[in-house]
Amino acid sequence: MRALRKNTRRGASSRRPRIPQIMLSAGTKRRFQRRLLGWYKEHGRDLPWRKTSDPYKILISEVMLQQTQVDRVIPKYHEFLEQYPSFEALADARPDDVRKTWYPLGYNIRPLRLHSIARETVARYGGELPNDHEELLSFKGIGRYTAGAIRSFAFNEDAPILDTNVMRVLHRLFVGTGNPKNQKNLLWELSEALIPKGRGYDFNQALMDFGATVCTARDPYCLLCPMKGFCKTYPFEEA
Ligand code: ADE
Repeated sequence: MRALRKNTRRGASSRRPRIPQIMLSAGTKRRFQRRLLGWYKEHGRDLPWRKTSDPYKILISEVMLQQTQVDRVIPKYHEFLEQYPSFEALADARPDDVRKTWYPLGYNIRPLRLHSIARETVARYGGELPNDHEELLSFKGIGRYTAGAIRSFAFNEDAPILDTNVMRVLHRLFVGTGNPKNQKNLLWELSEALIPKGRGYDFNQALMDFGATVCTARDPYCLLCPMKGFCKTYPFEEA
């Protein structure tokens, strides 16, 4: 059994808080990995950014997907890449034109951040996005989630990801109590511990699809869920 520590906050009390632990048995971990990858093979979505490992295209897709539904992203992803096919092309563009191409996706800081990432990539890295975690995090606009997505989807590394959907899935399956937002450290640990060696790419894409189509925020499809045998939340849905 592997024990993962829950994220606990120290209170004013001098007593050391009891550290709740999550026991993740090797059997449950293997079952989850097998079922998720099996489910993905059959039900995974055919999405344009899954046909490439170009770090530039992965970055564009991940930034677009941060606040926007897949269906709205797909046409804009193609249009944006046609207009700006590389870091160099984006770096050379006028920020205002980039913002116009981005319309109507919204959250307009995102195209400007992408533009500045492109400039920095060209200036500091000769137009090649680095794969190092810390270096990726040094870019304004690349946080822990995006760094993990770039490393797993572009560089095929077993790097963890945690966005709202993945947080919900892992919390429901393996934690079951409390507010996932207060358990981010634990959920990052889980996200990392669960990746089958060498399968980070498929595993992370599968987690996304599973969260988007089965373990949905509202009205999840629990009866059809391949994980219900060990899900900490099944058969009860949180309020
Ligand atoms: N949301 C964020 N990244 C995604 C991806 N790679 N596939 C589907 N949905 C996503």
